[in-house]
Amino acid sequence: MQVSLIVLAAGMGTRMNSDLPKVLHGLGGVPMLHHALAAGRALEPSRMVVVTGHGAADVAKAAEAFDEATQCVTQDPPLGTGHAVAQAAPLLANAPGEAIVLYGDTPFVRPETLQAMLDARASHAVVILGFVPRDPGRYGRLIVQGEELLKITEWKDASEAERAITLCNSGVVCAEAKTLFRLVAQIGNANAAGEYYLTDIVEIARADGLSVGFVTCPEAETLGINTRAQLAEAEAAFQSAKRAEALDNGVTLTAPETVFFALDTHIGRDAIIGPNVIFGPGVTIESGAEVKGFCHLEGCHISRGATVGPFARLRPGTELAEAVHVGNFVEIKNSVLDEGVKVGHLTYLGDAHVGQHTNIGAGTVTCNYDGVMKHRTEIGKHVFIGSDTMLVAPVTLGDFSMTASGSVITRDVPTEALAIARARQEVRPGMATRIMDRLRAIKAAKAK
Ligand code: UD1
Ligand code: CA
Repeated sequence: MQVSLIVLAAGMGTRMNSDLPKVLHGLGGVPMLHHALAAGRALEPSRMVVVTGHGAADVAKAAEAFDEATQCVTQDPPLGTGHAVAQAAPLLANAPGEAIVLYGDTPFVRPETLQAMLDARASHAVVILGFVPRDPGRYGRLIVQGEELLKITEWKDASEAERAITLCNSGVVCAEAKTLFRLVAQIGNANAAGEYYLTDIVEIARADGLSVGFVTCPEAETLGINTRAQLAEAEAAFQSAKRAEALDNGVTLTAPETVFFALDTHIGRDAIIGPNVIFGPGVTIESGAEVKGFCHLEGCHISRGATVGPFARLRPGTELAEAVHVGNFVEIKNSVLDEGVKVGHLTYLGDAHVGQHTNIGAGTVTCNYDGVMKHRTEIGKHVFIGSDTMLVAPVTLGDFSMTASGSVITRDVPTEALAIARARQEVRPGMATRIMDRLRAIKAAKAK
């Protein structure tokens, strides 16, 4: 079955009190918009269209960052949810199969719920997602008769009796694409807000002799974000769900409430994650790896049996092969460490490749940036890098080579060679005492 996804994200988000478009505020390490897109993408849609408006260029950039296949249409000015969907007509009105409308500010809808809506399409031309919130507040109300949805009334337009209804509209809609756009084209704006309400398609469909149905989901899935307080609540809800999921999947979290995940964090069974570990986007950790406390990881892959931290920072493009050891106060960026590499302490590796079983001494730095360009460091296998070596890139160290501690390596080091690049040591007998005596005499003279 072909599915097209339409994500509405044109709204101002006035109540966020922000210059940033609402859907770009971060949630689980990624823009909020990515959550709705991820839920929709789980259905393997053939098209994904985001309706942008406020901050359109930036929202489009974020949509493409999620998936290059995402297309954007601009709604300007925003005249309501029905008008927003209509903007996607040029792209989707003739698309085969189903269309699903999601909101960019409603991040927690589950793919299983969307699938239930697709399934319900077997008995109804249009399917709406409803829910029963603890506080129905100003949500649109679903007026139902048995399995049929007769009408959705916006709170502003609802009578007292209608406001007493607790079954509310989430905003998620599913219909055949052709049907959806035919119905949406007929929406008018004769209502309290003067807006084109997507919700009007229920009555329009019924007037056309079509059946409209609904499925329901827990309130947690329809949590919409309108304020910073709701964003903070959503973050907390997201994190506790991810922690529970990790524990269920067989991951040890020694202090779950201190670990923060991103939307796409993936951790294998029997991995161990210590306290205060923060996952940015794009992290995968294989089974049995261990990340000790206070690490910050982003855009990296950690293989089976590797150990990281405490206090390590792995940045995008870091690839740790099996049994690599990364210790404390180590930063790694855009670098591949082959099997068994040890980088125990106080090191920066950037734009480097390190061959298997190489040992990187404490205080090693790849000097990868010349102020204008980045350069690569190639380190072979079974190399021993002495402590406090500066590797001035571009530079290559051959297999089984060595550097002396404190060296500044500016030229390539051949296989099996030792490179020493530091001043030769001088020893002056008795000099230390003579210096100290002189300094103490100066101090005593000043005190008088
Ligand atoms: C909408 C529903 C309401 C439902 C509620 C659930 C309508 C008319 N009302 O109301 O029944 O209970 O959601 O949260 O649909 N948007 C656009 N362009 C627009 C207007 C909105 O893209 O012109 C986007 C917004 O960015 C947002 C979403 O659509 O992501 C919902 O819009 P919003 O104004 O929040 O709708 P509600 O008034 O909350
Ligand atoms: Ca809303």
